[in-house]
Amino acid sequence: MILVTGATGTVGRETVSRLPALGHAPKALTRDPAAAFPDGTDVVHGDASRPSTYAAALDGVEALLVSPRAVGAGLPELLGEARTRGVERVVLLSAITVEYGGGFRRFAEGFRAAENAVAASGLAHTFLRLAQFAGNTRVWAPQIREHSAVRCSYGDAATSPIHERDIAAVAALTLTDPAHAGRSHALTGPKSLTQREHVAAIAAALGREVPWIEVPPEEAGAAMVARGVPAEIPQRMYGYLAECLREPGPTTDTLAELLGRPPLTYGDWAEENAEAFR
Ligand SMILES: NC(=O)c1ccc[n+]([C@@H]2O[C@H](COP(=O)([O-])OP(=O)(O)OC[C@H]3O[C@@H](n4cnc5c(N)ncnc54)[C@H](OP(=O)(O)O)[C@@H]3O)[C@@H](O)[C@H]2O)c1
Repeated sequence: MILVTGATGTVGRETVSRLPALGHAPKALTRDPAAAFPDGTDVVHGDASRPSTYAAALDGVEALLVSPRAVGAGLPELLGEARTRGVERVVLLSAITVEYGGGFRRFAEGFRAAENAVAASGLAHTFLRLAQFAGNTRVWAPQIREHSAVRCSYGDAATSPIHERDIAAVAALTLTDPAHAGRSHALTGPKSLTQREHVAAIAAALGREVPWIEVPPEEAGAAMVARGVPAEIPQRMYGYLAECLREPGPTTDTLAELLGRPPLTYGDWAEENAEAFR
């Protein structure tokens, strides 16, 4: 049995669906009473950030996927329960900034603290240090739908976003194979692309022009906040992109090495998710 926290997120849901093919039964943790998962999934109703709401579900669990956003401050308690109840391994969805630096300081510190807590737990563990998800670019969807253009900052900043299905493939692999215990995998997409090139990939998937209109970060950030995005998101995003303008974000070969195939591209993601921008 493998317990997946954050099971209704893009990575968690895909990980749950991949485990049976690897011979492992998934337990999917969610607060949502209406959440549906594939047949054969043991759905656990609880709040990942309050381990007392689902601790008994850790009995008989061999490995645990920790989604830091879902578990939050409940991490030390969860790790204690996991240890007491005989969980053998933990896979943590961490961030590449822990290894390569850069980005919003509070964001990096949060992931570093999560890694330290997992390392201190005494449980066998694997850290997946993830580049920004391809799905983060959904932040452009409202403007593309409404104006068929992207007014944004740092168009020439380059990053290598990772397709969430590839993250889930590695999560499922490392949850089910004890050989990954004690290892950290820095995972990125296959290719460094500028923000303008990301938008061009969305435009190609939509089959129409979507111009990039460069605006100062203060203007782009204020527009995001006006749409209800928490102020921390533009700070985090533009802080990191300013750095990627000076030096592109990292690109590693680790995903291809682990999966034995080329990683999915941002173009693949844009085609699969074109409806969100239409
Ligand atoms: N996006 C990135 O670029 C990036 C980069 C590095 C690492 N990460 C990490 O990767 C992980 C997976 O990301 P994701 O996008 O697949 O997941 P997500 O959508 O952020 O969250 C997954 C699920 O966690 C639960 N959740 C969220 N906030 C919660 C809260 N405050 N308290 C309790 N439960 C909460 C929700 O499930 P229910 O409502 O069903 O309970 C949600 O559907 C996250 O932990 C994130 O920190 C992301």
